[in-house]
Amino acid sequence: MKIKVRVPSSTANLGPGFDVFGAALCLYNEFEAEYISNAKKTTFTIKGEGKKSLDIGKKSLLWQTMQKTFKVLGETKFSLNNLNISINNNIPLSGGLGSSSTAIVGGIILANALCKNKLDKSQIADLAVKIEGHPDNVIPAIFGGLCICSRDEDENHEMVINLPIPKLKVVLCVPAFELRTKHSRQIVPKIFAINDVVFNMSRVALLTAAFCCADYSLLKQAMQDKLHQPYRGKVIPAMNEVFQAALDAKAFGVFLSGSGPTLAALCADKNAVNVQKAMKNVWKKENISIKNYILDFDIKGAITI
Ligand code: HSE
Repeated sequence: MKIKVRVPSSTANLGPGFDVFGAALCLYNEFEAEYISNAKKTTFTIKGEGKKSLDIGKKSLLWQTMQKTFKVLGETKFSLNNLNISINNNIPLSGGLGSSSTAIVGGIILANALCKNKLDKSQIADLAVKIEGHPDNVIPAIFGGLCICSRDEDENHEMVINLPIPKLKVVLCVPAFELRTKHSRQIVPKIFAINDVVFNMSRVALLTAAFCCADYSLLKQAMQDKLHQPYRGKVIPAMNEVFQAALDAKAFGVFLSGSGPTLAALCADKNAVNVQKAMKNVWKKENISIKNYILDFDIKGAITI
């Protein structure tokens, strides 16, 4: 039995929607598991991003997630002695595009498929959020599109609303330096002034309206944030200058992708290359090497292929 799953990258927060907004993007990691009942030797391979740096075998996030899923399902048959695992990573690891979320989502889906798909999509989502700790990468990675995530804490259940897909390109500048989500979450304060909370609430409302009405002229203001970007910006060189350069090149809105350090802009197709150049030039002056992407929104989410 062989199962292969393709999981999209994702951009989280979209500015003010900390731990609430997330969108799936058309850049993918692939995960495969093959069960061989009487295997003499099995393999665990990683191609692409992280092929030299990521843990393989027992310590890998994919396998640890598969094990957690087997445990939830009460399944003890599968082990690294009877499964060939292969990973093909296209999503950069430096942070902000949900690469580790793809391993969590991929691990749950592979393990669930080996166990005859006992978990439905909503149970997969709840388990993924439990493992990841925040919903806004794993949820779009599972459902695709542009998602609002709202958690019912008592039931540990995630409510997901899909907003209309913006007819926009997502321009992403991924710097070579890494910012771990764990560290990047510690930078964010635990307590905020009411003015800052009101500021963000108004932006989240605007952002929802901008996407629902496809009024992208609202995005410049709607993507502003006072809860996490100002703090994370202190460890991301020239973040505000990159944002300004993108806006000057006619981006509609700019934001820190997830917990960074990837920076993102939403713009019309016709302006995407110029926006990308403008963002790139600022970091070039800072001697920061980057990878660039101009992506569409993914609408399918994780699929078996
Ligand atoms: N909402 C999460 C954070 C996303 O900002 O920490 C991490 O990609």
